[in-house]
Amino acid sequence: MPNGASLIEKAERYGAHNYKPLPVVITRGDGVWVWDVDGKRYMDMLSAYSALSHGHRHPKVIDALIRQAQQLTLTSRAFHNDQLGELAERVCKLSGLDRMLPMNTGAEAVETAIKAARKWGYEVKGVPEGHARIVACTNNFHGRTISVISFSSEAEYRAGFGPFTPGFDLIEFNDTGALETAISDKTVAFIVEPIQGESGIRMPSPGYLKKVRKICDERRVLLILDEVQTGFGRTGKMFCYEHEGIKPDILVMGKALGGGVYPVSAIAGREEVMKVFTPGTHGSTFGGNPLGAAVANAALDALVDEQLTERAAANGRFLLEQARAIESPHVADVRGLGLLIGIDLKPSAGGARRFCEALMHDGLLCKETHETVIRLAPPLIASKTDLEFALSRLRRALA
Ligand SMILES: Cc1ncc(COP(=O)(O)O)c(C=O)c1O
Repeated sequence: MPNGASLIEKAERYGAHNYKPLPVVITRGDGVWVWDVDGKRYMDMLSAYSALSHGHRHPKVIDALIRQAQQLTLTSRAFHNDQLGELAERVCKLSGLDRMLPMNTGAEAVETAIKAARKWGYEVKGVPEGHARIVACTNNFHGRTISVISFSSEAEYRAGFGPFTPGFDLIEFNDTGALETAISDKTVAFIVEPIQGESGIRMPSPGYLKKVRKICDERRVLLILDEVQTGFGRTGKMFCYEHEGIKPDILVMGKALGGGVYPVSAIAGREEVMKVFTPGTHGSTFGGNPLGAAVANAALDALVDEQLTERAAANGRFLLEQARAIESPHVADVRGLGLLIGIDLKPSAGGARRFCEALMHDGLLCKETHETVIRLAPPLIASKTDLEFALSRLRRALA
């Protein structure tokens, strides 16, 4: 059996270097735990950027995957399959929205939301064709396609990839005054993450989304909430917007929808928006396939049946409180909601990477985000004992 070093060497030699992974080679996962090729056990505190909310190989999700794989895997949307309608109903009932459209990855779902908003702008709002504008926030993360990076403010995500898609205006996150100013008669939508995950777990002020909802209503602008990372219980509510008692016009979902085993994404929206999609206007060969839909159905059932959202709320409060209590000369701020928490380090700490490497050696897999932040996003199935394990390692590393 090849050892970890030779496997890393092969990946480095033959793979493009668009990531800088920690030097660990994982070969097996079970719940919150993973094992490397040398048999060492680690707790997964990243959950594949919130995609593994169910933990590794959740039995109900794996069971659905195997059963469906033995039955039917792909039809394309040229025909109906017996899983997609079930998924559409579940997503609509959980989100309180009218219709859904399935895709595969988060970035594709964001692209779909942009297409929906533009078409709604022309056909319903009456914006002259080709002139629609969409407002987004600085420090956003919505994915990596050309159109999506066209409204990124991150130089590293954009450099060398132009020309970009026009039609986007950037404002500061958490600034409702800037939103009011940015909206013109050509604005069709405002796209925002309820919490900016990738840019370092940046939290808006309480009431922000409620005010945003009001502005969008008054100015007839669609509110697109990207809950690819915050959705499906991660913040202690099924969707993060529930914390503010509002609903988006378009909801973007991905990651945990696939139960940690299969890429499934979607948008859901109000009837007035979703009706702009007519046969031939949009699609995806694999989007809505029966294998992915069966997995997502099982993932959503497990989320509800096992009360993972409620668990994230209670365990999130515990983890936040305990993380805040860690005595460390390096910590500047600890913030988050539910089981999406960021430990922001002082500039003098020398970056989050070295702490993540130390944590790895101590059996805890974390990943830095935006140089100074250690992201804590364990699977929602984590028990208090699991979180105590993580906290003991964090205390040691940050001392
Ligand atoms: C808020 C948000 N939107 C979109 C995406 C893109 O998802 P994907 O990597 O599946 O394309 C991500 C991924 O991290 C995300 O956090």
